[in-house]
Amino acid sequence: MSDKFARLIIGDKEIELPIHTPTAGPDVLDITKLYAQGDVFTYDPGFTSTAACDSTITFIDGEKGELLHRGYPIDQLAEKSHFLEVCYLLLYGELPSATELEDFEARVTNHTMVHEQMHNFFRGFRRDAHPMATLVGVVGAMSAFYHDSTDINDEWQREVAAIRLIAKLPTIAAMAFKYSIGQPFVYPRNDLDYAANFLHMCFSVPAEKYEVDPILARAMDRIFTLHADHEQNASTSTVRLASSSGANPFACIAAGIACLWGPAHGGANQACLEMLKEIGTVDRIPEFIARAKDKNDSYRLMGFGHRVYKNFDPRATVMKQSADEVLELLGVEDNPLLQVAMELEKQALADPYFAEKKLFPNVDFYSGIILEAMGFPTSMFTPIFALARTVGWISQWKEQISDPNLKIGRPRQLYKGETSRDYVDIEKR
Ligand code: SDX
Repeated sequence: MSDKFARLIIGDKEIELPIHTPTAGPDVLDITKLYAQGDVFTYDPGFTSTAACDSTITFIDGEKGELLHRGYPIDQLAEKSHFLEVCYLLLYGELPSATELEDFEARVTNHTMVHEQMHNFFRGFRRDAHPMATLVGVVGAMSAFYHDSTDINDEWQREVAAIRLIAKLPTIAAMAFKYSIGQPFVYPRNDLDYAANFLHMCFSVPAEKYEVDPILARAMDRIFTLHADHEQNASTSTVRLASSSGANPFACIAAGIACLWGPAHGGANQACLEMLKEIGTVDRIPEFIARAKDKNDSYRLMGFGHRVYKNFDPRATVMKQSADEVLELLGVEDNPLLQVAMELEKQALADPYFAEKKLFPNVDFYSGIILEAMGFPTSMFTPIFALARTVGWISQWKEQISDPNLKIGRPRQLYKGETSRDYVDIEKR
């Protein structure tokens, strides 16, 4: 029970609303009884001031540029941990012991293959389909192949579905990539770690041996870690809303993938690299900054700004370090796109418009540069974001499903349409 309250005066009514105190972040005004007591709704399009749930998984402090997963700062996890260990942390709440980690990694490794008939499912798509379109379709179709892990009321089936999704998303994303370039699918290999296996499934061909460079595998793993979870962002909120109706986990994750695709969200990494290519050279940067500042132009700098971070995105800082390492390894440290990106960041951060609106590079600003240097086409950037975010989506899904107070999400509205009126026969219109 709360011992803090807010008092709201509405007309001749005084309503007492409980205030909840979190372990971190701002206090929360509990309005669950507001409509019943005050006969009013709140109004918050885009949920800029709304806590839609309580959670113990990820905490973000937008002012401090802080991102914690179960309390552990993202920069420490990116440096000292690895993606599957972060998956364990997000799913179960604590860092695993060596034995727990070994068992978890074995369970994921042994679920990386997909049902062989899924290969036929891919063949129904056009070769030039965007891999995100394929991903949404194939992940949604997983409920047609894995009926034995769709009962959300069975804790064991929930666990199997979580492992299957984390294990199979890289395989499905790699298959979407291979299908789009007309190359044969490459089966997962149990002797490779999660990130190396994904690179192998994407870049190896039957005609020759492909050795995964351990530095690229480490950079890939770090990119997965930096994208793993991010509190109640648009796609996670989509997964939570879908799961509140009791939909099966595969359908919920497919809904999250669909939402992530938008350029304002996970599609920004593809849009950002396309923007850097459109800018092309450093001397054209002022032209694009001017467009982004022009009130009459809806143009925005992709990879800049964030709903929550208002100083810097801690993931962008780590991602930039990774970009430097990968480009140096690949001998492309003078990559023209990186030059444009660094000069764009410098000029934007020096511009009062961006400083006043607190627009800083976000996680998507540098990730595209690394992924392109690794050999991925821009169309694969968001599928990679989706496969990394799957653990966040499924962790938040599990947390919500196990909440005994779970009820279907059903927002209301501020109605501005016509009030009731009688039908008019067509001859009288
Ligand atoms: C992700 O929520 C998450 O956590 C998401 C994410 C995750 O891990 O899940 O972090 C991943 O989605 C990162 C964001 C990737 N998106 C982009 O890089 C696309 C470009 N950024 C914008 O579209 C925008 O910044 C958003 C969508 C990210 C945030 O928008 P908000 O918080 O709704 O802010 P807003 O649109 O109300 O903009 C506030 C002001 C506006 O100016 P005014 O109307 O007040 O005059 O800032 C301006 C905007 O015009 N603005 C920009 C801008 N972003 C905001 N101006 C130029 N370029 C930009 N990128």
